[in-house]
Amino acid sequence: MEETVQKLLAEGHGILAADESSKTIDKRFAALGVESTSETHRRYREMLLTTPGIGNYLGGVIFFDETVRQKIGEKTFPEYLTGQGIVPGIKVDEGLEPFNGTEEKITKGIESLDNRLKGYKEMDLKFTKWRAVIQISDIFPTDAFLDENMERLAEFAEISQKNDFVPIVEPEILLTGNHTTTRCDEIETKVLRVLFAKLKSKNIDLTNLLLKTSMVLPGKDSGVKAEPLEVAHATLRALGKSVPPEVAGVVFLSGGQTPDEATNNLNEIVKLKEDAPWKISFSFARALQEEAMSEWGGKDENKLSAQEVFIKRLEKVSNARNGKL
Ligand code: 13P
Repeated sequence: MEETVQKLLAEGHGILAADESSKTIDKRFAALGVESTSETHRRYREMLLTTPGIGNYLGGVIFFDETVRQKIGEKTFPEYLTGQGIVPGIKVDEGLEPFNGTEEKITKGIESLDNRLKGYKEMDLKFTKWRAVIQISDIFPTDAFLDENMERLAEFAEISQKNDFVPIVEPEILLTGNHTTTRCDEIETKVLRVLFAKLKSKNIDLTNLLLKTSMVLPGKDSGVKAEPLEVAHATLRALGKSVPPEVAGVVFLSGGQTPDEATNNLNEIVKLKEDAPWKISFSFARALQEEAMSEWGGKDENKLSAQEVFIKRLEKVSNARNGKL
């Protein structure tokens, strides 16, 4: 696990989240008018993964069950990446379901997890990810929901480490809503405190664990846009109050920010916290892929230009991860 952590958090490197569920990738392709089949999913991921030079910026790539067996030539995606010195991992939660018949949505998939990990062990995969989703509103999140959702996240970490996978625990605080930055800070702090109390009570090895979470931002529907310095202050304040120093790394998701917003905010966070006890990096899906996916548009003849767009964004995000944009 130590070697995996080091590779994932290596200087200038981060993680590409290419773990969209089949439903999510359907949605992204539909928005671009691209046909969504298992083969177009494969061709799209092949375009990303064969981009020359990605190993200079990526320590890891997260897959979904559908794509983890797909191939580039004779090699599965994980085998292909391992050959390039990039560590493959997998999203292992099974999506969301209503919590006790309410509007809050809890993450499922714990019962079958141990079994599934035994299967993934055979496939070069070294780390796992579990996403919990927290919506902010006047009445949400409720304490009962947070307690159960964070309990499952901690169980996921326990089962992963028992099977020798590095867990990435991902409580995503959604950007949707009309909340203020202050309320986002309050909720993110609360969520992370509950999560780390649960992880502690299960004796999880925090030096072999990554936290993937949201930047602290005003809600998308609030009509407010926060400047990078404000985002950086608010985010580091929330993390400082809740994340133990032993945690190996904090990797941010992009959460529906534009590629530039996510990149600039990451740059400011890193610049402001050179003495952070944890490594700070990225695990973006949309902010890394949006421009390249749109350039590709489902057409093989656009492969090279899409790869150029992809590597340019990766380079920028990598510079931001070093605070040197
Ligand atoms: P975004 O960067 O698009 O938020 O995705 C990260 C992720 O892995 C969500 O689970």
